[in-house]
Amino acid sequence: MILAVHAIPEADRLAAIHDRIALLAWRDGRETAGSVARAVKRNEQAAMDGAAGRSLQDEIAQILWKNPVIRAAAQPRRFSHLLVSRTGEGGGYGAHVDNALMGKGERRVRTDLSFTLFLTPPEDYDGGELVIHAAGITQSVKGEAGHLVLYPSGSIHEVRPVTRGQRIVCVGWIESMIADGAQREMLFDLENLRASLRAQLPGQSAELLTLDKTIANLLRMWARA
Ligand code: NI
Repeated sequence: MILAVHAIPEADRLAAIHDRIALLAWRDGRETAGSVARAVKRNEQAAMDGAAGRSLQDEIAQILWKNPVIRAAAQPRRFSHLLVSRTGEGGGYGAHVDNALMGKGERRVRTDLSFTLFLTPPEDYDGGELVIHAAGITQSVKGEAGHLVLYPSGSIHEVRPVTRGQRIVCVGWIESMIADGAQREMLFDLENLRASLRAQLPGQSAELLTLDKTIANLLRMWARA
């Protein structure tokens, strides 16, 4: 399942994030790529290990944790460290697969879902689409600033070359409590059904209680907390 979420609707919040990104130092993106991806990665990454980078990382992580659609779709157990990437003219990121495990020691996460949070408005650059390859189908996404795209980490994907301007995104990975994507999608559908029924039925209705029970029992069956 590929899902788009308007993660940062507030223009002032997005502007504040850009102000903070402007203070960060930049490094060659190949430093954080695996050996295969290194050959096709042409971008820069913000240094997130200083105080400014860490607090920016915390702020974005908070936004993601609190988002009800991201929570329902991803059933997150843990988020990876976040990367802020900048791709200028001539840059891009050729077709690759993300590493199955990211980070070290306690902070190591299994990558079930990848996300790209678009920070630059699409009119500010040409090219730079995120292209996700599924069996026989490709999906091309160029999100509005503040929109996040969530997609399975197991897919081959790429960032098309940027031919004008500059593309800034935040990317990261989610380890889900539900490792299986099909199970995760069923839970997401049931959560959405529950939200729409809640708007129509009293909370103690037999229908809602049955649905609450089913969602809870599926989580018991499938979740690895
Ligand atoms: Ni990737």
